[in-house]
Amino acid sequence: MNHFTLRDGVMYAEDVPLTLIAEAAGTPVYVYSTATMRRHARVFREALAGLADPLIAFAVKANPNRAVLATLAREGMGADVVSGGELLRAVNAGIAPEKIVFSGVGKTADEMALALRHGIGQFNLESEPEAAMLAEVAAVMGVTAPVAFRVNPDVDAGTHAKISTGKSHDKFGIAFAGAREAYARARALPALDVRGVAVHIGSQLTDLAPLETAFGRIGALIADLRADGHAIRTADLGGGLGVPYDPAQPVPPQPAEYGEMVRRVTAGWDVRLIFEPGRVIVGNAGILLTRVIRVKEGGGDRFVVVDAAMNDLIRPSLYDAWHDIRAVVPRGGRFTATIVGPVCESGDTFATARAIDRVAPGDPVALMTSGAYGATMAGTYNSRPLVAEVLVDGARWAVVRERQTIEALIAGDSLPPWFGEE
Ligand code: LLP
Repeated sequence: MNHFTLRDGVMYAEDVPLTLIAEAAGTPVYVYSTATMRRHARVFREALAGLADPLIAFAVKANPNRAVLATLAREGMGADVVSGGELLRAVNAGIAPEKIVFSGVGKTADEMALALRHGIGQFNLESEPEAAMLAEVAAVMGVTAPVAFRVNPDVDAGTHAKISTGKSHDKFGIAFAGAREAYARARALPALDVRGVAVHIGSQLTDLAPLETAFGRIGALIADLRADGHAIRTADLGGGLGVPYDPAQPVPPQPAEYGEMVRRVTAGWDVRLIFEPGRVIVGNAGILLTRVIRVKEGGGDRFVVVDAAMNDLIRPSLYDAWHDIRAVVPRGGRFTATIVGPVCESGDTFATARAIDRVAPGDPVALMTSGAYGATMAGTYNSRPLVAEVLVDGARWAVVRERQTIEALIAGDSLPPWFGEE
């Protein structure tokens, strides 16, 4: 459920008409709904009721905007980060360091030292060389690093290949088969507190079965590791729960069904569970508001050219992702069109031969469910400045990221001294 609804023929974000935001902030612009984020945070937390003190660590990569993180921090969420930059953003937004877990296959020694200085809750290690590096960094600093290994359970998540992470040939985690040996070797390293197990098999999952299989394997591994003498106290079950993008597709499992499965599968594990939801918290809480530049007809095709492009929202180009496209002020009637951006790539297509609200040049249009992996994946291809972001809360709204100016974009480059310019 979200708070982008039609009122008297105009789409609102909570109590603010999107026409007002389009006018005042310009387009393209991301618009986030506070009420939707809060609701999703609460629904997720309530779905996990009955578990002993679970840590819900929002996957910062899904939407790292400071105002978004601060909203979720106020809901008591921690953070799952994958870079020093995300770590600093999370801390800056008020997320307590002990609620931060650090994932990712390529943590550098500098990033490890940064995280140790901040006293984060847990490192999710993805390889033995990484464990060795962290042990060295922590030993030099005279501290102990709390760690889990992310284990690759070799489960097919049944999602798009580019967002599937739990098959044996994916780059993520240590192999399930050799996990006991890896834990034994890590225990022998100095300055590591080997305290947990982690798993994450992919994103936009629409079926709980692969998750249940993966979690079952993790449960068996925890028992084996304890038998080997490891004091396992945490199990990080990752993120991955899908959200509805296309109303014609079956609805993904609800957080409550996920929670029920988790309670059943993890009963008796006697660990603190950690969760890393991203999309399910912010996906439906954001839209990309754009404007029709022109409608181009000819050769039997109709193209609606909007002012947003693949550099602003790359999901359709990268994953063939389906985003609902709605007129902000529907004129009545529908037509079939291919919705494209101005970028010089055929891949700059948001939808192909899609029946949408009939629109005309100048009309504001919403690309729905863009709150996760939207602005965060934006770039400046074709020298298009990064777009603005707006947060709505009831009848209030504010720009929470200024639109980048073309001057700032150009000023980021410099000429080498031998060009003779000062
Ligand atoms: N934990 C780890 C270790 C992850 O790698 C991810 C996402 C998450 C948690 C959060 O997953 P979520 O709950 O959001 O599914 N850009 C792609 C999605 C990439 C997901 C990467 N990892 C997209 O737009 O669909």
